[in-house]
Amino acid sequence: MQVEELLPQFPIKEFHPFPRALLGPGSHELIGPEALKLGFKRTLVMTSGLRGSNIVHKIVESMKYHGLEVVVYDKVESNPKDYNVMEAVAMYQENECDSFVSIGGGSSHDACKGARISVAHDGRNVNEFEGFNKSENPKNPPHIAVSTTAGTGSETSWAYVITDTTTDPDNPHKYVAFDDASVTTLAIDDPVLYYSCPVDYTAQCGFDVLAHASEPYVSRIDFQPSLGNALHAIKLTAENLREATWNPQSLAGRQGMMYAQYIAAQAFNSGGLGIIHSISHAVSAFYDTHHGLNNAIALPRVWAFNMPVHYKRFADIARAMGVDTHGMNDVKAAEAALAAAIRLLRDVGIPERFVDVKQDTYSKNRLGQGPTKFYENAKTIVGDAADVDRITNHVLGDACTPGNPKECTFETVRPVVEHCMTGDLDDLLS
Ligand SMILES: [Fe+2]
Repeated sequence: MQVEELLPQFPIKEFHPFPRALLGPGSHELIGPEALKLGFKRTLVMTSGLRGSNIVHKIVESMKYHGLEVVVYDKVESNPKDYNVMEAVAMYQENECDSFVSIGGGSSHDACKGARISVAHDGRNVNEFEGFNKSENPKNPPHIAVSTTAGTGSETSWAYVITDTTTDPDNPHKYVAFDDASVTTLAIDDPVLYYSCPVDYTAQCGFDVLAHASEPYVSRIDFQPSLGNALHAIKLTAENLREATWNPQSLAGRQGMMYAQYIAAQAFNSGGLGIIHSISHAVSAFYDTHHGLNNAIALPRVWAFNMPVHYKRFADIARAMGVDTHGMNDVKAAEAALAAAIRLLRDVGIPERFVDVKQDTYSKNRLGQGPTKFYENAKTIVGDAADVDRITNHVLGDACTPGNPKECTFETVRPVVEHCMTGDLDDLLS
């Protein structure tokens, strides 16, 4: 698909609606009653399993207590694969289910959104719906999305991201589909469910939020209703991510990030994203690394790349991050925003370059463990010239790239990707 097809440069903006939501501590206790109100009888629960926590078991038992029949698909992988979606679709059809509940982060929600669309089209492969509003049947099964991380925003957005494993093994493809038909029926964001989210994972997901918030604030789409939400989500992230990461039982920290996640997703839902996300998708396509980690590494480089287009907006971001910009012009204030982002990245312990990410770098690392020969052979992030070239090409075909404020060509984007691989963050500050 060509970039020009993805985002016509029309002056008309489109608002994409959000689902109903229940937010706050204790809201997950309402899953059963809410499912009954929605008419659920036999529900397919989709999740990565959240092994090491008791969350899935507790929610499933609560649903059964309320009289619901429950079937569980707990094999959703990080960067959910097309076959995860299709296995779940088969399970849904075999068991004659009538509804979905997803429990987890973006992977579980996204796989579930794809499964709903496939179910509504007689089990056609999810990859057929890549693009913008490709669903032909808006009537798909109802879906309650229950978040256990503060990053994705998928519980409230019209986006879902799938890895297509059917492409040429040397050219894997991870895509984001935007579809109003994928929007969930009910989003549940309960900060209590985030308590068991590991430290490193909390930090990485937090940078997904910062990407979701900052990209629409400078996007080419320039959707004015998103700007307030974007800035507020940046403020909440700057205020709460350190606390949520290093004091995991802090309700204030977890709740602050819960709202940051929710508000940031509502900003990008109609405000668009940019090449932080495109680079993140590309690196996940080749290496199966965590989406939030990839965003964190890409974010400072992409902010520096885009800054000359939007010094004033980046100066606003600096203030939202708590920088006292008094006496600074917009250029200096924008540079201070970049310094604040790098400080946050270092404070929460995220690796600074892709070549620094190893198999033991973080708890849910999947380098070299993927299900196909391609992933088995990708045990380290190479970062050489050929790697930079192929990742740059993936970036240029991503559905998020047209929203990036600065023009993206192979020549302009390649140095950004190269810096993500091997560059020194301190170079951006000089
Ligand atoms: Fe994201």
